[in-house]
Amino acid sequence: MMELLYPDYKSTRLRAPRGERIQLPRASTERTGPALWDGRVAPLDNDLTRQHDGEPLGERIIVHGRVLEDDGRPVAGTLVEVWQCNAAGRYRHDGDRHPAPLDPNFTGGGRCMTDDEGRYRFITVKPGAYPWRNHENAWRAAHIHLSLFGPAFATRLVTQMYFPGDPLFYQDPIFNSVREPKHRELMISSFDLSQTVPEWALAYEFDIVLRGREATPTET
Ligand SMILES: [Fe+2]
Repeated sequence: MMELLYPDYKSTRLRAPRGERIQLPRASTERTGPALWDGRVAPLDNDLTRQHDGEPLGERIIVHGRVLEDDGRPVAGTLVEVWQCNAAGRYRHDGDRHPAPLDPNFTGGGRCMTDDEGRYRFITVKPGAYPWRNHENAWRAAHIHLSLFGPAFATRLVTQMYFPGDPLFYQDPIFNSVREPKHRELMISSFDLSQTVPEWALAYEFDIVLRGREATPTET
């Protein structure tokens, strides 16, 4: 389990497991919840720019992709949730003390279900970089947090999506805690002109592969 200890990412020094994995009995709620797929996800839940009276400030973007098995089969009917800071790098969260403005028109959370081809799509604004106190002058590379649910809580995966060419990658220990450069690449979205909407928004594509050699790194 030592791969979860990455001393440069300071909080892993305390929380990385030191013992062997143990098997815990699964409670029925972990196997049967969260049962979100009976019309509980509204069609506009994937549009983070339309949750308030006005539009949020920042660069409007489309984030889309597919959820795939290792053999390329699409994973349909999976709940994809996102959360992120606003364009200024500030989360709507009491614990966020970054002296950047909150945006009254941006909450920063959204969700959608993958379609029959495993596709998901969000409309949002590009998140800003933000400081954190991990080390001297530490800044997170811009990112969007993603969570995927299979049929139950016990099958949840959590990861972060990055943007191509970010100048902060080299000094972000969360990004670099994924040791292999080729695995880090799997967390970086690609700019997608084909889905970019003229006069409206740039698009970024981010496929999420659940397992296998091309599996998207996830947080344990
Ligand atoms: Fe974050």
